Amino acid sequence: MRVRKLAYALGAEITGVDLKQDLDAGMIAAIRAAWLEHLVLVFPGQNLTTEEHIRFSRRFGELELHALKNLQGKEHPEILEITNRIIDGKRSETAEVGRQWHTDGSATTRPSLGSLLYCRAMPEAGGNTWFASMYAAYNTLSDTMKGVLDPLESVQDLGYFYGNRGIGAREADKVSADIGDNPAVVQPLVTVHPETGRKALFVNESLIRQIHGMNREESAGLLQYLHRHATRPEFTYRHYWRVGDLVMWDNRCTQHLAPRDYDPDQVRHMCRTTLKGHSQGRYLQEAAPAT
Ligand code: SIN
Repeated sequence: MRVRKLAYALGAEITGVDLKQDLDAGMIAAIRAAWLEHLVLVFPGQNLTTEEHIRFSRRFGELELHALKNLQGKEHPEILEITNRIIDGKRSETAEVGRQWHTDGSATTRPSLGSLLYCRAMPEAGGNTWFASMYAAYNTLSDTMKGVLDPLESVQDLGYFYGNRGIGAREADKVSADIGDNPAVVQPLVTVHPETGRKALFVNESLIRQIHGMNREESAGLLQYLHRHATRPEFTYRHYWRVGDLVMWDNRCTQHLAPRDYDPDQVRHMCRTTLKGHSQGRYLQEAAPAT
């Protein structure tokens, strides 16, 4: 197995490994060690069936099903298809997934541990994914700012996310039933990675409604600063996909973004498995000030 760093803050390419094979425990341990060090691993030129993608993913933990039931795969519920393809005569509901910086599952009480995304079709140009290191985001803050942020918590809310997207009433009705099962949660603003012991900034512009205990106006300036700081270009790696690439990232210390940087008439088709995380945060019991 060869490891080649792809950017300063995060990202490494892994070659010399065929993910179709049933890899031995030593190889899985080496991949896991590289993952903890580089946060995002790129395995180029793999040629995986859905079953092989799922089998490789399971070597890193239990797989979770998407919090929104309508996004769970029909044949393989653990697969999230992210695509602009026409499915059953309709535009796929995942055509616009990931357009803002986010961390998978952050608005639940069990944020996802990691995700493994496999590329099945790419437009001629664009269709990239950006990743940002939340270790770098935390480490580069001043000690005073770290001291302010360490005890703070955020309110993360799927309803806020859908509200912000300005989706149509029919679509909103459809997702609201699922959102009912996913009430707002309170999450630490700074987390400690359970395997590396390193601190990470746990922020994202998609789902954080406000700082817990502050009203939205008080929160807005601080959140705006944190979102901008966390995604500074020097903390990022941008992946230019080729069909057959598998990319796995650690959600506990990264954010990602899938910009609409391609021709929407050309097909982009990705399949994601998601690793179940540990219990973190709590449901928002008392109403946080909303104004
Ligand atoms: C995601 O947010 O997991 C999707 C990323 C992508 O489609 O590139």
